Amino acid sequence: MQRRSDVIVIGAGAAGMMCAIRAGQRGRSVVVLDHAKAPGDKIRISGGGRCNFTNIHASPKNFLSANPHFMKSALARFTPSDFVAMVDRHRIAWHEKTLGQLFCDDSAKDIIRMLLDEMQAAGARLELRTEIVAVEKTEDGFRVSTSEGEYLATSLVIATGGKSIPKMGATGFAYRIAEQFGLPMIETRPGLVPLTLDPQLLESVAPLSGIAAPAELRHGKTAFREALLFTHRGLSGPAILQISSYWREGDEITVDIEPDVDLLAHLKTAKQANGRQSAQTALGEVLPKRLAQYLTERAGVTGNMADMSDKVLARLVDAAQNWTIKPSGSEGYRTAEVTLGGIDTAALDSRSMQAKTVPGLHFIGECVDVTGWLGGYNFQWAWASGVAAGDSL
Ligand code: FDA
Repeated sequence: MQRRSDVIVIGAGAAGMMCAIRAGQRGRSVVVLDHAKAPGDKIRISGGGRCNFTNIHASPKNFLSANPHFMKSALARFTPSDFVAMVDRHRIAWHEKTLGQLFCDDSAKDIIRMLLDEMQAAGARLELRTEIVAVEKTEDGFRVSTSEGEYLATSLVIATGGKSIPKMGATGFAYRIAEQFGLPMIETRPGLVPLTLDPQLLESVAPLSGIAAPAELRHGKTAFREALLFTHRGLSGPAILQISSYWREGDEITVDIEPDVDLLAHLKTAKQANGRQSAQTALGEVLPKRLAQYLTERAGVTGNMADMSDKVLARLVDAAQNWTIKPSGSEGYRTAEVTLGGIDTAALDSRSMQAKTVPGLHFIGECVDVTGWLGGYNFQWAWASGVAAGDSL
C-alpha cells in the first residue's frame, strides 16, 4: 500500500513532534513515522521523569557546534518563552529548579500528552512500530519504504536523534541518511556523560564513592560551577556532565572543591581557635568528612594545626581547590545524555534546516551538530529546530 502526504517526519521525539505540529498548522498533510512503541521516550525519562523542558537563559553560547553561529536563527525565532506559552496553554504546572531550568511539577508525560494533542489538532498522523527499510529520492520528493508499506511525500524531515542510549532505540539512522545523500558529518562522540578513571586512581578515590560536593570544574577556558559526584565508576554529577562535552581523551580537568568558601581563611581561623585539632577535622567542618580525610592524606598533611605553617595549610587548600585529574575515558553512549557532532551544519540552511544540496530533505534536533549544555538547552534546540523546519514546509 502507498500513502502520500506533503511531509514525512521520521522520528517522533521532541524535534519531530514539534516539526509535525508546525507543518500541520500550516495546512500541510503530515505523517510521523517511528520504530518505537510510544512517542517521546526520551522526554518521558528526562529530568528524572519531570522533563527539564527548557532553560530561560538559553542563548547560542550554551551550545557546542563547529559553527557557533548556526543555531542563532532557530533559537531567536522560537524562544523558551514561546515554549512556556504552549505549556501554559495546556495548563501544565511547572517550576524553575535552579539556573533557569524549567521542570514540570508533575510528570514529563504531560509534555508528551501536550505534543500529541497539538499534533492531533494540527491533523498530523502518527505511525508507531514502523521500521524504516529504505529512503529514496523520487522525481517530486521522497519514497520511504517501511515494514508497514510505502510512504511518499514532497518533503522529508529526519528527526531520529543521536546515538545516546542505544537501549532506548537510538540508531544513528540520521547519519546513515546523511551519508546516503552525500552530506558531510562532524565526528560524533558522547556528551553530558560521566567520566571514568584508571584503575589506580579509581582505587584511591574509592572511599569517596557517593559523596557530592559543590565544585568548579575547569577545562581550558571553560568552567562550570555545579555539584561534583564521586561514584564507584569515576566522576559524575552535573559539573562533570557539563565539562565532559568539552573534554577529550588525554585531557586533564581541574577541580576546585567548594569554590565559594575561602578554605585558607577557614583553616587559619580554626588553627587560631584550637591549635590542637587536626587539619582534617578543621577541613571536615566545611567539606564532607571522608573528602577532608582524603585531601589531607593526599596533601601529606598530618599532625596538630598549631605546628603547621601557612605554607602547609596552603598546600592543603591547593589539593582541594586546584586538584588536577586526568580521566581515562567516559561511560560512552550507554549513559550519555546527548551525542556531540553529527550532520555538519555547513550542509544545512539555518532558517529551514534543509540540506543545501537536497531540496526537500531536512534534519532537526540532536542529529545535527548542535549540542546544548545540561539544563534544558537540548530540548530548546529540539523545539526550535523543529519549528524552523516546520514553518518552512
Ligand atoms: P529523540 O532521541 O528525542 O527522538 C528520536 C526519535 O526517533 C525517537 O522517538 C526514536 O524512537 C526515533 N528513531 C530513532 N531511530 C529510528 C529509526 N531508525 N527509525 C524510526 N524511528 C527512529 N534534554 C533536556 O533539554 N532536558 C532534560 O531534562 C534532558 N534529560 C535527558 C535525560 C536522559 C536520560 C537523556 C538520554 C537525555 C536527556 N536530554 C535532556 C536530552 C534530550 O532528551 C535530547 O536532546 C532530545 O530528546 C533530542 O530530541 P530529538 O527529537 O532530536 O531526538
